[in-house]
Amino acid sequence: MEAVWASVAAEGEWIGTELPLRAGWADRFRAAVASDDATWFAAEVDGAVVGGIYVGADGGLAHVGMAIVDGHRGAGFGRQLLDAGVAWARAAGCHKVVLEVWPHNDRAIALYRSAGFVEEGRLRRHYRRRSGALWDAVAMGLALDEDSPGR
Ligand SMILES: CC(C)(COP(=O)(O)OP(=O)(O)OC[C@H]1O[C@@H](n2cnc3c(N)ncnc32)[C@H](O)[C@@H]1OP(=O)(O)O)[C@@H](O)C(=O)NCCC(=O)NCCS
Repeated sequence: MEAVWASVAAEGEWIGTELPLRAGWADRFRAAVASDDATWFAAEVDGAVVGGIYVGADGGLAHVGMAIVDGHRGAGFGRQLLDAGVAWARAAGCHKVVLEVWPHNDRAIALYRSAGFVEEGRLRRHYRRRSGALWDAVAMGLALDEDSPGR
């Protein structure tokens, strides 16, 4: 998974992670997915991991991050991975799946919308990139529990 994240981070366009990956990135990833509160699903082609989704549950919220390497996009892996991640969150009893996406990431936003996610707000000048620029992010969410009382 480290190679996937590094490859997509190298594009500098789509995910929050930037290169070089922080020291211990892979150890933290392994520790996170080894816990009961998180998991990941991988997309494989000929035995090679070409993409994956991380899902981490915290207080009933399932936080999602996903990436597929260039050359394997648009082939349905994203939708399959997202479906698997949402199913895991549902089975884990989460009431909502949440994520953040760069506003220019039309492909990812289209995938999330088609899976039922809605845009819940725009975080303005929110993330400091290593270039020094401040990027906006769009918060999206998929409510899994529509039955509990709301307020
Ligand atoms: C965004 C990403 C996860 C989508 O996964 P994918 O495997 O490429 O997408 P899929 O083939 O499963 O397509 C799923 C949906 O995405 C949308 N989509 C896919 N390619 C698209 C494109 N070129 N333009 C617009 N929408 C597109 C469509 O809604 C599509 O549904 P459809 O096939 O029913 O029309 C993947 O492209 C990726 O990893 N990109 C780089 C990293 C990234 O952006 N991660 C998300 C960070 S928030």
